[in-house]
Amino acid sequence: MPGRFITFEGIDGAGKSSHIEPLAARLRAAGHTVLVTREPGGTPLAERLREMLLHTPMDGLTEALLVFAARRNHVQQVIAPALARGDTVLCDRFTDATFAYQGAGRGFDVAQLTALESWVHGDLQPDLTLWFDLPAELAAQRLSAARAPDRFEQQDGTFFERVRSGYLARAEAFPQRIRRIDAAADRDSVGRQVMAVLERLR
Ligand code: TYD
Repeated sequence: MPGRFITFEGIDGAGKSSHIEPLAARLRAAGHTVLVTREPGGTPLAERLREMLLHTPMDGLTEALLVFAARRNHVQQVIAPALARGDTVLCDRFTDATFAYQGAGRGFDVAQLTALESWVHGDLQPDLTLWFDLPAELAAQRLSAARAPDRFEQQDGTFFERVRSGYLARAEAFPQRIRRIDAAADRDSVGRQVMAVLERLR
């Protein structure tokens, strides 16, 4: 039986990353073999591309092509083989992030992103996506205490409101797959929402 592919999305500062390992532990305790990975990244080549994406100035088209190049390598080397083995794959960001950041955020043409998507990962789509949603202003407050900002984290509030609206558009287009988590709530409440969505998946 092929495994399940679950992705985690949201603007920078939404807090999604801190919920992935606890969820992985819970799934492992329930007997699943779980692979935790991230985008951009997840392979040695894709991690090198990630460094460039986060720290080297480039235009929107270059950004989109590098994101999809990293994704191609990651899908081929890691995600597809894991799903074929029957593993559960938890991935911190996937193609919804490209529609939200490069599409809605940078203004890159959505039809062209759709073409790249079908070229790079054809029929492979997440079975479930948890979208950690909160206002950009609140996310920025949470980020300000964190480390030195990368090229994306340096963007202003209007950029992140556009990215957020990009995620909303994706959630409306794929209501079966994308579940909204109220990430403005406190950490425990967010954790409970995550577990509740997973319970319904069983
Ligand atoms: P992020 O998950 O925020 O990593 P970290 O929590 O370690 O900072 O991802 C890094 C950045 O990459 C994030 O700002 C969003 C951006 N990104 C895109 O712009 N497009 C994409 O397709 C993906 C996967 C990420």
